[in-house]
Amino acid sequence: SPRPATERPSNPAVHDSAFLKALRGEPASHTPVWFMRQAGRYMPEYRALRAGRSMLDCIRTPELAAEITLQPIKAMPLDAAILFNDILTPLPTMGLDLDFVGGVGPQIANPVSTTADVDRLGVPSTAETMPYTAESIRLLVPELNARGIPLIGFVGAPFTLASYAIEGKGSRNYERTKRFMYAEPAAWERLMGKFEAILADYLTEQVKAGASAVQIFDSWVGALSIYDYRTFVKPATSRLIERVKKLGVPVIYFGTGTTHLLPDMASLGTNIVGADWRLPLNQAWDLLEPGQGIQGNLDPLLLQAPWRELRHQTDRILGEAAGRPGHVFNVGHGILPETSQAMVHRLTDYVHEQSQR
Ligand code: CP3
Repeated sequence: SPRPATERPSNPAVHDSAFLKALRGEPASHTPVWFMRQAGRYMPEYRALRAGRSMLDCIRTPELAAEITLQPIKAMPLDAAILFNDILTPLPTMGLDLDFVGGVGPQIANPVSTTADVDRLGVPSTAETMPYTAESIRLLVPELNARGIPLIGFVGAPFTLASYAIEGKGSRNYERTKRFMYAEPAAWERLMGKFEAILADYLTEQVKAGASAVQIFDSWVGALSIYDYRTFVKPATSRLIERVKKLGVPVIYFGTGTTHLLPDMASLGTNIVGADWRLPLNQAWDLLEPGQGIQGNLDPLLLQAPWRELRHQTDRILGEAAGRPGHVFNVGHGILPETSQAMVHRLTDYVHEQSQR
């Protein structure tokens, strides 16, 4: 069965929240809503708090990470919080020199380019190298429990993290990554294994500290063919997901550009698969396993369209979900910085009103 057994979290309001019900495939009072990148630059409070502070400083200071996580929760009636962090924070602990360069994005000064570079990467204990993550979660849980809001912990998936480790930055075609994968399959497998180990450990820490659900971001895996996904990526990703299922909280597996990969991603048996906006929600859902839920799938650009168009397409998506339990409303990829917070708020209210049952 694709639904792993889930233990009862300590807080009943959180356990009975619309979000965790949807993740368990149970009918809920309304369709739960959260947004990838809901804490971010589209929010004036976020820009104010970030002024003069680096991204990594905010992530590594529990009081700041907790405050940023709560900014969208205090501003809007969202159904879940996501820890303020980044998928790339484990990379420096492994020996990769990461910086977030304003206006450019993440940059790694010493990316992986040889098999020896793979073997030099460390797999340290995340409790020792990233203690601020569990500390941030411990600060957040009482605040969120009081509001009945679950907290989502997360990591990047092995392929998506390998793409940053090898390219050293964002990429369009992942040419270095694919060249390495094809030319050095044994070192590639060791690299996938190192990510599997550190990511399983990191998610374990997050769940032990109080995360109620976890999401695995495989943002760029859609660049692979079905054959390459099965050959080079699926085995380690599957082992990671098997380990994470044992933590007793529901799991979401998300990627973009994955129309062709959805059946394979679904076969890894997470509670929910995240879909981008390319397919109608019902068509994407039909590619998943029986009983599996879906998260998505509004094009984030629609938050910059006139309200009549945004409302029309939201109606369309809710219609495609057709009242089936197991739908979590979200954007198909992160909220863009140019988005108006008022539109995000209006959309959240609208999904709640329209899906009330
Ligand atoms: O969703 C949330 O509100 C939680 C926080 C979060 C961030 N990054 C904060 C962030 C999450 C879940 C992420 C995940 C992440 N990070 C992904 C997977 C999701 C996706 O978008 O595909 C990826 C690929 C990254 C890597 C990353 N981090 C990139 C490519 C960038 C630069 C691009 C950009 O938007 O600037 C970042 C920086 C980053 N991570 C920002 C935020 C809020 C923006 C930088 C800033 O505020 O200065």
